[in-house]
Amino acid sequence: MVLHIETSVAGGYCVTDRGGSFEFLAKRISEALKGLEDMDGKLKTVCRILKDSVPYYNWVGFYIVDEKRRNELVLGPFEGERTEHTRIPFGRGICGQAAQLERTFLVQDVSKEKNYLACSTNVKSEIVVPIFKNKKVIGELDIDSHVPSPFTEQDETFLKKVSEMVSRIL
Ligand code: SME
Repeated sequence: MVLHIETSVAGGYCVTDRGGSFEFLAKRISEALKGLEDMDGKLKTVCRILKDSVPYYNWVGFYIVDEKRRNELVLGPFEGERTEHTRIPFGRGICGQAAQLERTFLVQDVSKEKNYLACSTNVKSEIVVPIFKNKKVIGELDIDSHVPSPFTEQDETFLKKVSEMVSRIL
């Protein structure tokens, strides 16, 4: 187990040392990105490391901006349940909004978000972090959680770092 987890009274997860654990995970991801796999293999490995290490990261995937239709996102490597949302226009759902507005979207309670594309009723919260190259959005890292309000500033900082590392290989 990578993270220091305690079960909270509410039955959710309480991570007691995100900082140290995220630092360790960032190193593992950096190593994986230097490896011999092809690009999709590397992205899949990043998804696996994140999903397997952080108990409240229940679906982890990449969306990549379509090179031909540059206002659409196409589903790339992911870990977790299959999703019907394999192509998302900019502006639609949390992913499309993050791409259009070029900023991270952190939704602690998806039931309160009107512009949301549901994948599974188990999903309670979501964070989408854009991946930038030359100041343009070229893709996104998307994480769904079955836990309500699990994400902190430390998750956001860590996931931005992951997206910067991934940007270098795209
Ligand atoms: N919930 C996302 C759609 C993608 S799935 O989470 C995999 C959205 O609202 O854009």
